[in-house]
Amino acid sequence: MILLAEHTFRVNGRQVTVDVEDDVRLLWVLRDLLRITGPKYGCGIDVCKACTSHLNGEAVSPCAIPVGALRPDDEVVTIEGLAGPDGPHPMQRAWIDHDVAQCGYCQPGQVMAAVALARRAAAEQREITDADLDGLRNVCRCGTYNRIRAAIMDGARHM
Ligand code: FES
Ligand code: FES
Repeated sequence: MILLAEHTFRVNGRQVTVDVEDDVRLLWVLRDLLRITGPKYGCGIDVCKACTSHLNGEAVSPCAIPVGALRPDDEVVTIEGLAGPDGPHPMQRAWIDHDVAQCGYCQPGQVMAAVALARRAAAEQREITDADLDGLRNVCRCGTYNRIRAAIMDGARHM
């Protein structure tokens, strides 16, 4: 017997409720139930980081988070929720300026990881270092890493 349960949380500024088993991963809830397809399915096992989104401001892999772990005041932000009323987020502008994307599949996750890194460095009142950039684990099969690194440094300066 499949037991469904209601799960309420916030996504990109709005409260949502889904009726689904506790152990369904957040990535599939976002993509298949809520039709928020910016977070991409790459590996499904928290390795490739294509699904990177923010949970309460931290970069996370929604493919590794059971929806039952979410609470009503938890805030999920995907690439769809990043732009503000004035247009693209500064990190998205940097991505455009540096013409980063090739096939584009990994790029929503890359941008979300970059924004979380830039915010963390700013909160610690320090510059982003090469070690920070080396620590990003998002896989890009097209090999856009050099442009990603340049865009992160540029985007962070404008945040
Ligand atoms: S799909 Fe989530 S880390 Fe690969
Ligand atoms: S742009 Fe193709 S996988 Fe990164």
